[in-house]
Amino acid sequence: MSVLEIRDLHVSVGEGNDAKEILRGVDLTVRSGETHAIMGPNGSGKSTLAYSIAGHPKYTITGGTVTLDGEDVLAMTVDERARAGLFLAMQYPVEVPGVSVSNFLRTAATAIRGEAPKLRTWVKDVKSEMSGLEMDPAFAERNVNEGFSGGEKKRHEILQMRLLKPRIAILDETDSGLDVDALRVVSEGVNRSREDSDVGVLLITHYTRILRYIKPDFVHVFVNGKVVDEGGRELADKLEDEGYAAYVADSKETAKA
Ligand SMILES: Nc1ncnc2c1ncn2[C@@H]1O[C@H](COP(=O)(O)OP(=O)(O)OP(=O)(O)O)[C@@H](O)[C@H]1O
Ligand SMILES: [Mg+2]
Repeated sequence: MSVLEIRDLHVSVGEGNDAKEILRGVDLTVRSGETHAIMGPNGSGKSTLAYSIAGHPKYTITGGTVTLDGEDVLAMTVDERARAGLFLAMQYPVEVPGVSVSNFLRTAATAIRGEAPKLRTWVKDVKSEMSGLEMDPAFAERNVNEGFSGGEKKRHEILQMRLLKPRIAILDETDSGLDVDALRVVSEGVNRSREDSDVGVLLITHYTRILRYIKPDFVHVFVNGKVVDEGGRELADKLEDEGYAAYVADSKETAKA
């Protein structure tokens, strides 16, 4: 049983006079086995939240805490965060030229487990997870994300999650750009991790489409750098119908006051 606790998190980007506060007091708790959906308008800071938890150097933490099972995540290096069981599937995954998917995954698994996975079981596991995600085995020899289509990148992110078995996974718009079949395949991958490793999921999305496959236990509305409302699944439908206008107006009122 793991718990990721984010308390009053403040994050800025930029230096000195150009510094701009993006996260303005985020509170969120994600436990093993729970799925939390975060929905909010463009530019509200959702990816910033994901990157800050993962330890991206561009983001400066100016206040608040993030802990995983009581351990201070913000004091950990990026590698230590991964070893502690945090995983981030990025909105825009980067290309890693010259590194094959198969080498990348094995290196990552070795770093996270502290020892190299046994070759025989590893090859079998990779094959079986790739087949579960309906990926062509030839992909294992391609360079990471190089020339991957949008959907292929997202499948590769979920393949990483399946093999690295994180305790808490942050999925930043894993559904964007997926066709209906890919959306189902990717969602089933996430659901397998919920079942076989009880992963806690923080799912950032713009659409309720993915929430038909991955049922969230909680939905959080994210506006202007913080969580402004929370509810169950039904909140996602309300947001899809009504948008964020009321929340955005409220948030401006509060900012003025
Ligand atoms: N490295 C950066 N330098 C300057 N501004 C940044 C940086 N990273 C994020 N921002 C700004 O922070 C704000 C929040 O960006 P973020 O990517 O977190 O939004 P988002 O909620 O993920 O949006 P979307 O739904 O479009 O993905 C935006 O105004 C963005 O321009
Ligand atoms: Mg984003």
